[in-house]
Amino acid sequence: MDYLNIAIAKGRLGEKGYEILKQIGLECKELEEESRKLILTSEENKVRYVLVKAVDVPIYVERGAVDLGIVGKDTIMEEDRDFYEIADLGFGKCKFAVAAMEGYSIDPTKQIRVGTKYPHVAKKYFLSTGRHIDTIKLNGSVELAPLIGLSDVIVDIVETGRTLKENGLVVLEDMYPVSARLIANKVSFKFKNSRIKNIIRDINAIVGEEM
Ligand code: PRP
Repeated sequence: MDYLNIAIAKGRLGEKGYEILKQIGLECKELEEESRKLILTSEENKVRYVLVKAVDVPIYVERGAVDLGIVGKDTIMEEDRDFYEIADLGFGKCKFAVAAMEGYSIDPTKQIRVGTKYPHVAKKYFLSTGRHIDTIKLNGSVELAPLIGLSDVIVDIVETGRTLKENGLVVLEDMYPVSARLIANKVSFKFKNSRIKNIIRDINAIVGEEM
């Protein structure tokens, strides 16, 4: 049997994703050891894990460097690449939202300055609602932008809402729901079809129970 190659992100998303894959027989002891290796293999289960940055998971999968990947819907929407999204893993639930300082209201006749780590998602959303924006791409601490006058609003993911609250910001508009997803390379899906189909079936059984 061929190896199944899976890209997972370093950190919490990858760890939780791996826990699910482990439950369905894709355990990899090497991955559980403390190390700095980036490719971890289980000869026994014929699976190889590749550790990448979360934002890079879609391109590894699109190009067929790996068969499968675990990634957040936020990254999927921002990267907008070509692959199949094959399962909702049911964790990492949050939402995309437009937020601003308390008391601010959007003037639809004016261009809105939007601070965000997700410029593609922000443009698509505002365009779909017929509004023009000036996108300001940031790489983190997005909540700071309206506080300091860099932007009028932000587009970001909101989980508990704590970061917004502690910085005096409020949600103006809910945009899209987000959760962790399993994605597949299109060619792998065809050529490793029975193995991937079984994975989808087993994941849905587990996630269905937990959700
Ligand atoms: C995300 C997001 C918010 C925060 C929302 O940031 O950008 O800042 O989490 O979570 P909350 O609603 O539970 O407060 P992340 O932790 O990914 O850090 P980053 O800003 O450095 O990307």
